[in-house]
This record gives sequence, C-alpha cells and structure tokens, in this order.
Amino acid sequence: MCGIVGYIGHRDAYPIIIKGLQRLEYRGYDSAGIVLFDGKGTKLAKTKGKVEDLIKRSKESISLEGKLGLGHTRWATHGVPNDVNSHPHYSNSGELCIIHNGIIENYESIKTALTKRGYTFKSDTDTEVLINLIEEVKKQEGVKLGKAVQIALNQVVGAYAIAVFDINKPDEIVVAKLGSPLAIGIGENEYFIASDASPFIEYTNNAVYLEDEEMAIIRLGKEIKLRKIKDDAIAYPNILELQLNLEEIEKGGYDHFMLKEIYEQPRAILDTYRGRLLADQGIIRMAGIDQNLERFTNANRIIIVACGTSWHAGLVAEYIFEDLARIPVEVEYASEFRYRNPVITEKDVLIAISQSGETADTLAAIKMAKEKGAFVFGVCNVVGSSIARETHAGAYTHAGPEIGVASTKAFTTQITVLTLIALKLGKANGALSESKFHEYLTQLEGVPAKVEKALESNAIIEEIAAVYKDSPNCLYLGRGYNFPVALEGALKLKEISYIHAEGYPAAEMKHGPIALIDEQMPVVVIATKRGHYEKVVSNIQEIKSRKGKIIAIVFEGDTVVKGIADHVIEVPETIESLSPLLTTIPLQLLSYHIALMRGCNVDQPRNLAKSVTVE
Ligand code: M6R
Repeated sequence: MCGIVGYIGHRDAYPIIIKGLQRLEYRGYDSAGIVLFDGKGTKLAKTKGKVEDLIKRSKESISLEGKLGLGHTRWATHGVPNDVNSHPHYSNSGELCIIHNGIIENYESIKTALTKRGYTFKSDTDTEVLINLIEEVKKQEGVKLGKAVQIALNQVVGAYAIAVFDINKPDEIVVAKLGSPLAIGIGENEYFIASDASPFIEYTNNAVYLEDEEMAIIRLGKEIKLRKIKDDAIAYPNILELQLNLEEIEKGGYDHFMLKEIYEQPRAILDTYRGRLLADQGIIRMAGIDQNLERFTNANRIIIVACGTSWHAGLVAEYIFEDLARIPVEVEYASEFRYRNPVITEKDVLIAISQSGETADTLAAIKMAKEKGAFVFGVCNVVGSSIARETHAGAYTHAGPEIGVASTKAFTTQITVLTLIALKLGKANGALSESKFHEYLTQLEGVPAKVEKALESNAIIEEIAAVYKDSPNCLYLGRGYNFPVALEGALKLKEISYIHAEGYPAAEMKHGPIALIDEQMPVVVIATKRGHYEKVVSNIQEIKSRKGKIIAIVFEGDTVVKGIADHVIEVPETIESLSPLLTTIPLQLLSYHIALMRGCNVDQPRNLAKSVTVE
C-alpha cells in the first residue's frame, strides 16, 4: 500500500528518490518523506500530502546532498496521515533509519516492552516500533545491523518490505521482505531499491526481486548478499533482465494515466492474445494451460478468487467457462474465501486474478488453496509479482503498466486471457464444436478494432457526463455477460467521482432498487442485442414509466432502445460472450469525464491505493 525507494551509489540520491516516489505514488499518496545521508549526517523532510508537497518541503528545509537516500509515499494504516507519522522514521538514538511498506500486527506488545526499557515514540506508527526493536536487538546482542534486522524480524508478525541504514555504516543498506514487494536494481557500483522497478528503469535493466522471508545486505563495491530471515540460509540472487521501458510508465500526451490506459485497450488486448491466438492455424497456444491441460479438464470445478475489478473479470469468466467449456465455476471474493473454511479438494483448480499480483487477500487465498492440494493458476499483469511466483502456473495479461488507480485495461485484458483459456478448455473437452471454436477465434481477433471504434464515442459520452455530473446517485443494470459490466461501471463511478452507484442484474431491479427510481435518477443500462435483449428493453420501459433517465449502451444500428432511452451510446456488434470487452469502454469514459468535471483527482482518488497489500 505504500511505495518505498532507496538509493546508494555515486549519484545524488535526491532526484532519483523524488522521481521514484512520483512513479510509485499510485501505491499510496497521503503523505511522503525522504532522508538523505551525506556520510556525515542525515537530513529528513516529511509531510502530509503528496510528493509535490514533499518537494516543496524538502527544498525549503534541508540540504539536498547525499549519495544515500530513502524515500516513502504512504497509504496510512497505523496513525493518521500527518507529518509525524510519515516515513522515514529514526530509532531513539537517531543512528538507524527505516522506511516500511506493510503492517506489523504485534507492534502494540513490542511497543509496551520497549517503553518499559525507556524507549519513547514520536509517531503512532508500527514502523517506529520496528526500528526501535532493531536498535534494541543491536544493543543487547552486540551485533551488526544486518543481524539485528534479522533477529528483530523473527519477533514480528505481519507484512513488510523495509529498507534500513545505520549512520555508522555509510556504504550499506539492509532490506527485507515478507508479503510486500521489494525489487533491487543493480547498476555500476550503485544500487536502487523500490516497491517495483519503475523508479530505476532508466538506470539499469538488471534487478533482483526478493522472495518472501528473504533479506539482503546491500553494500557498495560488493555483490548483494541474500539470506533467509528465518534460518540464516544463504539464498542466491536471481538477476532478471527487465523488459519495462520508460515510455510505458509516462503519460504520453494524455492528461491522465486513466485516459491513456483506456485508450491503450485496443493495443493491450492485441498484446494479450498475440502469439496465443493463432486463428489461421485454428489453435490457441498457452504454455501454462498446455502443460497442465489434464488438471483443468479433470477438474471438478474451477474456483476463481480476486478482489475489486479483478473479481468482476472473474464473474465474466464464470459465464464464459460455463458457457464455452461446461466446467462448473464459483467466483469468490478472496477476502471472504480465505476466512470461511471453504471445501477445497485436489480435484479443484483455483484461478487467482490480479492486476498487481500483490493483493494480500488474493495471495492468502492462493496459499490456503495450495495447502489443501488444489492446482492454482494465476492471471496477473505485473511480471514477477508475488502472485505470479506463488501460483503453480499462470498466464500474464501483457497489458503493460497500469498506473491509474482505477483499473481499466487490466479488466479487458483479464477477460481476454480468461476467454482464451475457456476456448482452449472447451475445445479440449469437446464442449465446443470445431466450427464454434473457429467463430470465436475470428470474433476475438476482431475485438481490438472494435474497441478502437467504441472509443470514438468519447465526445458523446463527454456531453452525457455534463448532464449527470451532479447526480448524487446512479444505477447500472445489465444481464448475463453484462451484469458484471454493470458492477464494474458502478465501481468505476464510485471510486473516481465519489458518486454513489449500484450495479444490479437488470431483472433484480423489480425486487427493490426500482423504489429508487424518480426523475432525478440516471440509470445506465447495457442493452446489447443477443443478451436477453427483449427482457432488458422491458426493464428500460419500467424505468421510463417511473420517469428515470436512461443512458443505454447498445450495439450499432439499434433502433428500438434509441426510441425509448434519453441517451444512447453505440458500440460495434459482436458475439454475446465478447460483448463485455466493448460495453465496458463507454462506462470507463463516462466515469472519467464525470470525475474530471467534478474536479476529482482521477488517477489518485481519495482513500485508495493501487495495490492493496494489507488485509
Ligand atoms: O491488483 P488487483 O487486481 O489484485 O487489485 C484488486 C483491486 O484492489 C482493484 O481491482 C481495485 O478494485 C481497483 N481500484 C478497481 O479499479
């Protein structure tokens, strides 16, 4: 939930850390801080607010010199967002300094014990407790920083990615990870530390991703030393060559990352099926499925776990898998699944969907399913992420970095991957005829061009947004494949414009939500021909007769709904199971424009963070 950045080397640390924090700000943005060490003394600047505020604060208050530095952008867990609770934190002696992403769950008892030993605390954070525990261990055991960190971490319960330095060791930073991500960039006599690789991509392509329960001592002029936190065993760094490029993580002329990412969808969907969907050969090639085909075809059922938008993609997948592959599917919120003692057997396949690959609840659900013997398959966007590593096999979405906190291209690319899997399984188990299979391949190949076309409605959508930007509520309705799209449309509006919105299966409206309809209530209805069209048209009539305002998403050429609805947004026609890839687009744009017109921060909505690495 927080972003951490560190540098040690021959360059000035300040600009590297600040730029890195700006790239990681999607992870949390309620406060920020930086510490610089010039070999003699440390300089600390922290502030409530964003990295912009930190730049101002640091330029006014500290000298910006130092070849070692740590920076932090926070999403508050323990203690309100204010200057004092911002990271970095010093130990009581002022000799040790830490940044931390995660939660120390048993911090209260450690704090009580340390207080009895005379320690005092400036902040309300668990992190300040941790750095003082490290200090106490270092003193009591007479050990070096690395050993002290290791002993202290064996006493804590929780999740962490930390970076710590000691002012008596100006050439060393100690890092450790459990549950929160931590990457180390390896340059020429310099090292970078970050929650993901984006802060150091212009300096080096070589990186090591720490595994859970690993720590590293990073010393200038020396190779990285990795060890296991639990038993001190040596671990060998697996140095990866990164594929990320700078262009992908910048706005590229768009006003917001969210808009850029909405417009990237034709390319992203194409990249998702590139090299997998081979329509001319009539095959789908996916190594993760090919190598484990029997696990899927012999499965009793598929359980899908995810959170938020990824959970909505999972709901679409339920329709696709049952429809095309005739395999029973259950879709679960990872946060509920992990705690409700579910029945899982070795004949179950669990598919975990996650853009970031770091969502704590999804990760915990995976671990539980693995313990119970299920085969676990990941659908992630971030390459090398914790979920990608924790699962038995998987398929990347290849959407490219998604920086806007509101998921857009992650959703459509997840649906694309899941469709490919369902098609592959349907063909393998005979549920899909050869001709149907080929029809789907051809239709799926045509989706990127149709998404491009759907994006052309942007101007009309902007006009509609202007009409409804001040509505306090909004209802989203859809049926079948487009019920999850209604949920996703409502989530998008809620999270970036702070308008209360509800998604419902259209037919459920008469069981309650219809009571909300009056002339003030905008209702977004997905009414694509093929998917229960006549029934949805009846629902539209019911809303109109109660004076509700209808914004309808229809296939091109629709005349029936056009005659009833207040506004109509057309998307190109496709087969029903692929329609979510098109009907989602106007809903993303609608929420984007409404949020913008309401003066909301589209890329960094209040109270949210891009990856939820805490429970
Ligand atoms: O990285 P994940 O896909 O696991 O994230 C899951 C949710 O936190 C995420 O989809 C969240 O709901 C987004 N803010 C939705 O736009």
